[in-house]
Amino acid sequence: MPSRREFSRTSLAALGAAALGRWPVIERHAHQGVRINGDRLNAHLKALSAFGANPQGGVSRVAYSEYDRLGREYVMGLMREAGLTVTVDTAGNIHGARAGSDPAKKPLWFGSHVDSVPEGGNYDGPVGSLGAIEVAQTLKERGITTRHPINVVIFQNEEGGTVGSRAIVGELHEADLDLGTRSGKTIRSGITFIGGNVPRLAEAQRKAGDVAAYIELHIEQGGNLDKEQLNIGVVEGIVGIGWWDVTIEGFANHAGTTAMNDRRDAMLAFARYTDMVNRVVTSEPGRQVGTVGMVMAFPGARNVIPGKVQCSLELRDLDNAKITRLFERVRAECVKIGEATGTTFAFQSTHQSASAMCDTGIMSTIAAQARGLGLSHRQMPSGAGHDAQHMAKVCPSAMIFVPSIKGISHAPQEFSTPQDITNGANVLLQTVLALDAK
Ligand code: GLV
Ligand code: MN
Ligand code: MN
Repeated sequence: MPSRREFSRTSLAALGAAALGRWPVIERHAHQGVRINGDRLNAHLKALSAFGANPQGGVSRVAYSEYDRLGREYVMGLMREAGLTVTVDTAGNIHGARAGSDPAKKPLWFGSHVDSVPEGGNYDGPVGSLGAIEVAQTLKERGITTRHPINVVIFQNEEGGTVGSRAIVGELHEADLDLGTRSGKTIRSGITFIGGNVPRLAEAQRKAGDVAAYIELHIEQGGNLDKEQLNIGVVEGIVGIGWWDVTIEGFANHAGTTAMNDRRDAMLAFARYTDMVNRVVTSEPGRQVGTVGMVMAFPGARNVIPGKVQCSLELRDLDNAKITRLFERVRAECVKIGEATGTTFAFQSTHQSASAMCDTGIMSTIAAQARGLGLSHRQMPSGAGHDAQHMAKVCPSAMIFVPSIKGISHAPQEFSTPQDITNGANVLLQTVLALDAK
């Protein structure tokens, strides 16, 4: 029986079938000429980047930090200015609601996140968050009442494992709450810090049918649009992601007196492990990726052979079964490395998100709106994880990408041009209006 932390072996086709084509394609609608205010949107992005600004020009606004709290306050102020009624749900996600004219309609959700990775950039999350608020502001200024209620959502702690959106779909479990985060707080205390209510976490949940659709504007984070000089990416699917904490146990001993063949060096095992992960992941055809991104050696002294290493493993692919298969191969190779180095490896799964396919009806609608705005576009998978992949479990879900210059992301050099950001927000606005016309 697989544990809840293991990927289901659902084939990609079966997974996709559930999410495909639930919306009809809408080419034209009544508000084709309406545009967002690009100068205002880009000014808001600049203002948000002050919260956690780092000397390299990016931000360190990790979830549940003081900068995260301040950034969220700033964003909630913009939401109120845009005429939205702001609430924080029990999981700490921010919602900005506006009523629709048809009481039979479920809300259209759009948004993103404002937390960042450590030493991250100014665009991953903020573009979609502030772009969504700009759409709401534009609707208000133009006096457009949509038939569907709208809900701008800012998910909490996207970068630490899409925590807020997992809570929305009922996949944030008791054991997850005690995991540590980069803020130094556990998820449990972090949620309390940002205004959530952990004992009542379940109240944040939405079930299938509660939300009409979810649309997320985001930077591509890869270099395809920039290389091909295209304006808009229409996302077809979002990769699954597996994270493991890895502990390598050896034996700490004197670095001067212990002969080389008497050592049980956890750092040596770590070096072989990192090389092996790369070898295993590249041994199959496909777009799968694997990363060892964290390491700590103990006790951590020049003259002590490391007795313990704590490190990580991340695997990603659009095919969940492939992630499971690669993980099993890595684990088997670790047994061999352990035998050769006198060490042991232990894996603890800390986060698994299944891949998700986007709704083909909404994808075609996004493409039609981009065309209507005179913007070039292409379909593409997302190699980054997003809250949209969890929302796909409860509603048709889709994403709009804008170019990332040189494909740099999760780094201070991350950049998207003001014009590309304006284009993306206009496609979001037009897509929301088109879906509302259904
Ligand atoms: C989120 O940005 C991720 O892909 O790690
Ligand atoms: Mn993001
Ligand atoms: Mn990110």
